[in-house]
Amino acid sequence: MSNKFKDIYKKSIEDPEIFWQEASKDIFWFKKPTKILNKSNAPFYKWFEDGITNTCYNALDIHIDQGNGKRTALIYDSPITGNKSKFTYEELKLKVSRFAGALGNQGVKKGDRVIIYMPMIPEAVIAMLACARIGAIHSVVFGGFASNELASRIDDSKAKVLITASCGFEPGRTVEYKPLVDEAVKQATHKIDKMILFQRPSHEVKLNAPKEVSWDEAVANAKEIDCVEMNSNDFAYILYTSGTTGSPKGIVRDIGGHIVALKWTMKNIYNINEGDIWWSASDIGWIVGHSYIVYAPLFKGCTTVLFEGKPVGTPDAGAFWKIISDYKVKSLFTAPTAFRAIKKEDPEGKFFSKYDLSRFESLFLAGERADPDTIKWAENLLKVPVIDHWWQTETSWAISSNCTGIEMMKTKYGSACKAVPGYDVKIIKSDKTIAKPNEMGDIVVKLPLPPGTFPTLWNADKRYKENYMSNYEGYYQTYDAGHIDEDGYIWIMSRTDDIINVAGHRLSTGAIEEVLSEHQSVAECAVLGIADKLKGQLPIGLIVLKAGVEKDNETISKECIQMVRDKIGPVAAFKIAIVIKRLPKTRSGKILRGTIRKIADNVEYKMPPTIDDPLILEEIKEDLIKNNILKSV
Ligand code: COA
Ligand code: AMP
Repeated sequence: MSNKFKDIYKKSIEDPEIFWQEASKDIFWFKKPTKILNKSNAPFYKWFEDGITNTCYNALDIHIDQGNGKRTALIYDSPITGNKSKFTYEELKLKVSRFAGALGNQGVKKGDRVIIYMPMIPEAVIAMLACARIGAIHSVVFGGFASNELASRIDDSKAKVLITASCGFEPGRTVEYKPLVDEAVKQATHKIDKMILFQRPSHEVKLNAPKEVSWDEAVANAKEIDCVEMNSNDFAYILYTSGTTGSPKGIVRDIGGHIVALKWTMKNIYNINEGDIWWSASDIGWIVGHSYIVYAPLFKGCTTVLFEGKPVGTPDAGAFWKIISDYKVKSLFTAPTAFRAIKKEDPEGKFFSKYDLSRFESLFLAGERADPDTIKWAENLLKVPVIDHWWQTETSWAISSNCTGIEMMKTKYGSACKAVPGYDVKIIKSDKTIAKPNEMGDIVVKLPLPPGTFPTLWNADKRYKENYMSNYEGYYQTYDAGHIDEDGYIWIMSRTDDIINVAGHRLSTGAIEEVLSEHQSVAECAVLGIADKLKGQLPIGLIVLKAGVEKDNETISKECIQMVRDKIGPVAAFKIAIVIKRLPKTRSGKILRGTIRKIADNVEYKMPPTIDDPLILEEIKEDLIKNNILKSV
């Protein structure tokens, strides 16, 4: 067996500065970095601190400079609206530099924050790249979040401008963005200066000038703008993600490390070369969309597909195969839930047989644990490697994967393969010692983290240090738990905080609990993620009412469900709220969420020795059976 992967990995861990300096030569710098890693203020490490570059230059201009301007950069395909379009690198650069000019006209300068709340349309990508071009920091907010979440991001980022569209389209439902944005703007204490709104054809909305301008008006007399020189450690973007408490964390990405790392991953992890056609079926509102719909494939000079549709229902379970076949996609990256949805609808792959997928080489899955059944089903159907890899918003690229561009490794079903070069992954046990092979514990990464990961949290250095870097001195705590086996394969088993993963979307049960607690009849509540065959996990709420409440339980449940939809958004997929008599607690008053989850998932559980009243668990079981969560046994 070849030692290629082993050797490269070893070099990356033993001498990260040499390793990443080498990788940094593959990107465009206005001024090459001479200082590769500054460790003087750990855990705030700085990569390439004296380098000068620009994200947009590396995504677009560089390819035109190299004579590849006529290559297709972006393919947009929207089975929901029937629209399709293609943009070469030259065309995309023109649109981006014009919109960069439009942003400048609206007063956006280097370092200003710009919120992007948009559906999966080319203008969303153009807006992101235009920000990068002028050094503005974008913060994309997923369209499935409600006004309240948008308002908290406006406030935290203190955004100057908000870019949105008249609407998004979900199967069977039009998402009217304007009322959502208006409500968010009203709720936010920080006031944005301007709103730029893209009017979707045949769905125009009224704008209130001069604060609100349409996209077309904004670009009408805008001049094209060149890339601004940016310091490597300036921020490219903020992406808010669910944290251990209700308030979202602003994950920031610095510019130089982001370009270097992401470009490196395209060949080494995904075996993708310049000019290859790549598709990431995610949403630009998530990290997978940031990194692998927009940035990494463009840094590499690939063609990237922007898909406004779903794996099923737009129009059928053959939608993915159609895109792969129509555009000769080489590799696809999506969440396992998408494949579970296709498998559920078309278990025998009848739709698959209608398309030519002869150019398709590999499928990458991430965002949640890929269950072996789904991987095997996909392997059988596609006859290509199906690769589960593990990563987080915090890192922006894979911590563990089969690095197919270096050396293909064998699959172990249920494992997310080995640590990727750059990541020194360890398991730490509850006694704070490093685990031996196959021993369970917290998964941590030895500092420094490689380039492209998060150097801090937006305006929250203290939270960064306390939350991620303090529990285990010298290590980044991933908040995932699992083990590493004797061959170095990593097994991600669970989260150690309140995060759940619903259809590959990261949600905080704490945030949902905060909303439920605001209901005037609710005395206390617990939200937990129960196993779900399609979405991986689903949130359920258990609610205890205040004494003397006269409303009926069903009304209260409905109100609670609506409150979560209104305050967090449809993405929470919160559809089950059960009124119960009491919650099981320890003698010191801690709710036994883990035990309730085990009961709901119908897996074995031990009676917690500290429980105040064991009978409550029987009551909960009965309530779950009554509500069809748990089958009667
Ligand atoms: N804007 C507004 N609403 C959105 C939205 C968006 N961009 N994305 C999802 N929603 C809404 C959905 O319409 C749904 O609303 P509903 O309660 O009115 O039906 C709700 O949020 C929940 O969405 P979702 O969890 O995606 O469920 P679904 O039943 O609509 O679809 C899948 C299920 C599996 C088909 C879908 O989750 C999917 O395609 N997943 C692919 C994986 C993926 O993109 N993961 C992201 C990270 S890699
Ligand atoms: P996000 O930040 O939204 O990408 O979510 C990151 C979390 O999703 C991780 O901390 C894991 O809990 C989970 N996750 C992502 N990829 C995988 C995977 N391949 N296997 C298991 N869990 C995963």
